[in-house]
Amino acid sequence: MKKLFVKTFGCQMNVYDSARMADLLAAIGYEPDDRPENADLVILNTCHIREKAAEKMYSELGRLKKLKDSRAKGGGSMLIAVAGCVAQAEGEEIIARQKAVDMVVGPQSYHRLPEMIARISRGAGHVLETEFPAQEKFDSLPDERSDCGPSAFLTVQEGCDKFCTFCVVPYTRGAEFSRPPERIVEEACRLAANGVKEITLLGQNVNAYRGIAADGEAWSLARLIGSLDAIKGLERLRYTTSHPRDMSGDLIAAHREIPKLMPYLHLPVQSGSDRVLAAMNRQHTGDRYREIVARVRAARFDIALSSDFIVGFPGETDADFEATLQLVRDVRYAQAFSFKYSPRPGTPAAALPKQIPEDVKSARLAQLQALLDKQQAEFNQLCAGRTVPVLFERAGTKPGQAIGRSPWLQPVHVDNARNLIGHIRDVRIAQVLSNSLKGELVVQNANAMAGSC
Ligand code: SAH
Ligand code: SF4
Ligand code: F3S
Repeated sequence: MKKLFVKTFGCQMNVYDSARMADLLAAIGYEPDDRPENADLVILNTCHIREKAAEKMYSELGRLKKLKDSRAKGGGSMLIAVAGCVAQAEGEEIIARQKAVDMVVGPQSYHRLPEMIARISRGAGHVLETEFPAQEKFDSLPDERSDCGPSAFLTVQEGCDKFCTFCVVPYTRGAEFSRPPERIVEEACRLAANGVKEITLLGQNVNAYRGIAADGEAWSLARLIGSLDAIKGLERLRYTTSHPRDMSGDLIAAHREIPKLMPYLHLPVQSGSDRVLAAMNRQHTGDRYREIVARVRAARFDIALSSDFIVGFPGETDADFEATLQLVRDVRYAQAFSFKYSPRPGTPAAALPKQIPEDVKSARLAQLQALLDKQQAEFNQLCAGRTVPVLFERAGTKPGQAIGRSPWLQPVHVDNARNLIGHIRDVRIAQVLSNSLKGELVVQNANAMAGSC
């Protein structure tokens, strides 16, 4: 077997794609290895969302070039492929900037990797594939998946038609595309048969899912979740990432009606200022977002809310930033991600006047993160002394330690644990740490108050 090393940057969709590339390449004799020094093929699956993310790729390529050169001196060889969103956005430029790169492949074309490798072995030099044949890609992927732990990602929707003025995704991932529901249910059944207990449905705008079934009917995400609910062995369902515009009534109702649908919603708002939201082309206001949150909470009172925020969007005033802080105070998040605005080439916001100085962005980010951290600590504190069901996913760093997730996606550690991976067990939360919970297993049938926090 040849050795494959894949390094993944960016979002969960890239994590899913990396696993699928490994499945695809297994069929032509590549096995995964966790060290680039051993690899015959290295794939960097890249992200273009912020400038820093793209720069990381070039510094990684510099390191790989040295490895490739020393391999060549020893009479060996190494292929380097750049996949993902930087590949899509920069294409040929990557090869021009780093000659050691052999292949550039976009997020919708990676099913062509085996053929690209064959072309290189026939002496084709550099190879580039950046087309958008989304359905062809899914149809070409192998049925079997080898990456299956107890919790798996499953991409159901790709691309984005929203064109927020700061964002590269519509350009790197293309137009919104939903996989047919039958294909998704089949993939979920295979995952469950392989011992997967939890599936997270993925999409850049997953709640805009509209899959056309064989009978021509369009399925919403709620209908898809309802259908996955019936799969035996599957205990937990999640979905991410959602846009407020597509938070439909049936999806909100699913949080009330489907116990397997976990009480967690990642609903990015970006800003609390209506003026900034309009300039971002988010197509909702702060109050509309608050109203959606209220409806979701009415359906599932204990839902953990998460979000993404951008500070320092062009023209953002102190008053606009204060509106963001006020929205955070009103919503009370369990968790969130926040970023300094990063101008991206080709996006409308990059050309706007009144770009915000770096020191102002940094100060606002620190203030927002302090508030979000405080809310996260308060949310986690609600679990102290409570018993919660935990799906154990992996061994911890300490011997005998196991790590899993609560329904609210909090990491939970348990010591002196045996045979827990892949099982859902009741855990009494003994200690609330800054980003995780520590607990003890509850002896089964001992009046467990599952799901009470
Ligand atoms: N589809 C999701 C987000 C995908 S990108 C949504 O609609 O919300 C993930 C996050 O990266 C975004 O929510 C945003 O907060 C952040 N992001 C995107 N472009 C950015 C930019 N140019 N600068 C800083 N953060 C950005
Ligand atoms: Fe980017 Fe906006 Fe699309 Fe999300 S909805 S991927 S932020 S353009
Ligand atoms: Fe990054 Fe592309 Fe995901 S830009 S966030 S890897 S969709």
